[in-house]
Amino acid sequence: MCGIVGYIGKKNAFPILIKGLQQLEYRGYDSAGVAIISDDNNLNIYKTKGKVSNLRDSCATKYTDGVVGIAHTRWATHGEPSERNAHPHASMSGDIALVHNGIIENYMLLKEQLIAKGYEFKSCTDTEVLVQLIDYYYQKNGHVLVKAVCRALNDVIGAYAIVVLEKSNPGHLVAARKSSPLVVGIGENNADYYFASDASPIVEYTKRVVYLDDGQIANISPGKEPEIINLNEKSIEVDIKEVDIDISKLSKDGFEHFMLKEIYDQPICMNDCMRGRLFVDDNNIANNHIVLSALNNFKDRLLRAKHIIIVACGTSWHAGLIGKMLIEKMCRIRVEVEYASEFRYSNPVIEKDDVIIAISQSGETADTLAAIQLAKEHGALVFGIVNGVGSSIARESDTGIYIHVGPEIGVASTKAFTGQVTVLLLLALALGHETGALSEQEYIETIDELSRIPAKMQEVLKQDNKIKRLSERFTFAGNFLYLGRGFNYPVAMEGALKLKEISYIHAEGYPAAEMKHGPIALVDAEMPIVFLATHHKLYEKVISNMQEVKSRNGKILAIVSESDELIKSIADEVIEIPHTIDALVPLLSVIPLQLLAYHVAVAKGLNVDMPRNLAKSVTVE
Ligand code: AGP
Repeated sequence: MCGIVGYIGKKNAFPILIKGLQQLEYRGYDSAGVAIISDDNNLNIYKTKGKVSNLRDSCATKYTDGVVGIAHTRWATHGEPSERNAHPHASMSGDIALVHNGIIENYMLLKEQLIAKGYEFKSCTDTEVLVQLIDYYYQKNGHVLVKAVCRALNDVIGAYAIVVLEKSNPGHLVAARKSSPLVVGIGENNADYYFASDASPIVEYTKRVVYLDDGQIANISPGKEPEIINLNEKSIEVDIKEVDIDISKLSKDGFEHFMLKEIYDQPICMNDCMRGRLFVDDNNIANNHIVLSALNNFKDRLLRAKHIIIVACGTSWHAGLIGKMLIEKMCRIRVEVEYASEFRYSNPVIEKDDVIIAISQSGETADTLAAIQLAKEHGALVFGIVNGVGSSIARESDTGIYIHVGPEIGVASTKAFTGQVTVLLLLALALGHETGALSEQEYIETIDELSRIPAKMQEVLKQDNKIKRLSERFTFAGNFLYLGRGFNYPVAMEGALKLKEISYIHAEGYPAAEMKHGPIALVDAEMPIVFLATHHKLYEKVISNMQEVKSRNGKILAIVSESDELIKSIADEVIEIPHTIDALVPLLSVIPLQLLAYHVAVAKGLNVDMPRNLAKSVTVE
């Protein structure tokens, strides 16, 4: 899950490359590097361990001029984070260099074959094997780079997005992709070309982009039209798109971290997500309705679906659990929720009438992408719920809905979760209404209440200072247990994941009633227990679970509905959230958990936006 950037044109490449890497740093940040061909045709490669700022600072005294270059920020897969293993990697001949995002699965075999041909290796990476393999064919075919890249990629098994430069011909760059994302930006009059793992580093220079598809190779020279071929060197028509990313959303807006900004963005994002989809008539509730264009395309297949399978990973999988409850409750259609990474290898039963809902913030998660490709092979309909506009999962899906929460930079997903739950609500309401499984009354009343959630989210955010104060009491904890029931059970899982990701404290989310079947053995005065105990049909049951913990001296922090005096008498700490109906509770109850995790991590002095060992979009297996 690395970030790659490339530039070729008339401008000095170095500042463009460094700025691009910093915008992609959420994809990986354990080492970075840049390669630039200087005006006198020298290939200068600089690499450092750690963040992009280290690379920038270390190059301050180095020669970095040149109008063509490639750069990389790394999330190590093969070879520990170090200068030696950082990208770009150059070939033994020194003729070519490349940056790579992905994994070459058969690199060991290829490496042995290259060693037998006299190649030597400086790093432990799979990527260096690829550049040597390209060099092997480059030397054999009379130095035709694009042919050498094609030939080499035909030998490769795995995932890749690469940009390759050639020392003796600085007038072009060659790029290719399979499974890992790659975007090519086209400057005015084709004078400049930009390459990046996603469009965010490109949009300040141009809105005209080409999203490379699997098996496509771009051979790019300034002043010429972009040339795209496939692995058999056959020309492919170039599909140029206009991207519309609001750059202002890429800044922290005065917040200390992107994560906190994105938590505070949620009321606005929810309105953006419902705009043009949720219609409320304050004068006549009977006119409340939902419009989802995604349903129009495949209405028949969606309405006659007997079986829905949700595939996702991480936070998106937690949203999927809530989606299952909503669709089964409102549409009476059987829903399964699968970890995409398991689903893709479990030889699952997929019927052609099945509908696969793929949930992904980035739209680039490799396991989810592979899961939907498997589903399509079985003829199932793929419905994408995605944030990344133009992303691979969006383009691979038959139909779908964008959650429209804007770029999410913080590695720990927050606004995407509430955006995904909002879209799943709109889908369940619309489908339930169409099939008649949902009563007209429940349909219009839920729509009414949904329109009030953004304001209620604002109310929850007002608790931020209180949550900050009480979070400082928990930084000592080595373990946490999050407990909830019904719609709050997946929220408990999500709260635990947020804490794990950014505070490095072990935490588990559990259905509250499951606790007495084991986890209750963990309860003691040191173990903070977070209960999601809002008013809903299982309220009394949760109270008894809480009593079980209290009688074993557990420390309870409870998320409760406003003015709940009963739980105040049981729990050590309570955070009150506005009342709402069961199905909408997760949109409010998750926010205190996001803030709790955030403040515990800040109190521990940790890098909240770029937690260790993680990356924002997992584009490898
Ligand atoms: C969540 O905070 C994590 N960043 C991670 O679990 C994430 O949800 C998972 O990798 C799935 O990503 P996606 O939604 O982009 O597919």
